[in-house]
Amino acid sequence: MPIEDLEKAFQNKIDNEIKIEPRDWMPEAYRKTNTRQISQHAHSEVVGMLPESNWISRAPSLKRKAILIAKVQDEGGHGLYLYAAAETLGTGREQMIDDLNSGKAKYSSIFNYPTLTWADMGAVGWLVDGAAILNQVMLCRTSYGPYARAMVRICKEESFHQRQGFESLLVLSKGTDEQKAMCQDAINRWWWPSLMMFGPKDSESTNSDQSMKWKIKRKTNDELRQNFVDMIAEQIKLLGMKLPDPDLKWNEEKKHYDYGEINWEEFWSVVKGNGPCNRQRLDARNKAHNEGAWVREAAIAYAEKKKNKQTAA
Ligand code: 3HC
Repeated sequence: MPIEDLEKAFQNKIDNEIKIEPRDWMPEAYRKTNTRQISQHAHSEVVGMLPESNWISRAPSLKRKAILIAKVQDEGGHGLYLYAAAETLGTGREQMIDDLNSGKAKYSSIFNYPTLTWADMGAVGWLVDGAAILNQVMLCRTSYGPYARAMVRICKEESFHQRQGFESLLVLSKGTDEQKAMCQDAINRWWWPSLMMFGPKDSESTNSDQSMKWKIKRKTNDELRQNFVDMIAEQIKLLGMKLPDPDLKWNEEKKHYDYGEINWEEFWSVVKGNGPCNRQRLDARNKAHNEGAWVREAAIAYAEKKKNKQTAA
């Protein structure tokens, strides 16, 4: 079948909401951009374990420690789901992980910020996982089947992540003056980087147009960002705290909150590897990968032994 007909039939499936599966014909560019996005998403989950694990040994109670351990473990599982989904497009996990560890592959800018106080655990759960949920609920309807299905399971766990973060901040917001100040400080530091999670503004988004046509994305970066601002601007009232944006104001005409300009220079600088913790995060990932080499070797040796036993029998 001529390539034009294949492409036409492919777009027809997309337009008719038929999921694209691993064995289906797909344009190489569709395969490439899904591999890019899904592997980066997986990298984000795995690197995202680092800022929070920093507080597991310093959690203020056994309950908070148990909750945080569960959340960090969830993120690791999300990474495995997503690497498995990305592998169905033909790129092996080793390659993807090498690309992360060498600094070639991107992961979400948000994880290159430090977690300075316990209140950061609440701000990360509420804001970072809150932003991730908005994006991931949309991705439950992405056109590539394995990615959409991985998202359904991940979103169920994300909701717990966001709730536990908000609840932790709620406790602090009702606490001593020092706890209130710690809560507000964490919100001040995590608000703008959370807005950056949705990507560059639509006018600078290199992938969005095509990703919208292929229904990889259902909403643009700015649309999702606006949904997030509208949601958090209401939720923060329950905390009695303020968002660090003097331009945040309800716009009755637009029925949305207007908000201030994001520092795009900071965004691109962090994406390019110059954020506060980029080096620390990659060093930690490389250290874990190198220290885990014996586990991979043992698993391969065991599989070989099992295979030889079966062939000898
Ligand atoms: N951090 C790092 N890079 C980013 C970025 C960010 N916050 N936002 C965009 N970029 C990169 C893009 O990857 C792209 O570069 P590339 O072409 O080399 O990959 C470039 O900036 C231009 O951005 P685009 O808008 O054109 O890119 P996309 O169309 O891919 O949109 C996105 C960006 C909305 C983040 C999209 O990739 C996406 O939806 N990804 C899946 C969700 C995801 O990865 N979330 C990250 C957080 S996961 C998380 O928080 C887990 C939770 O459990 C804690």
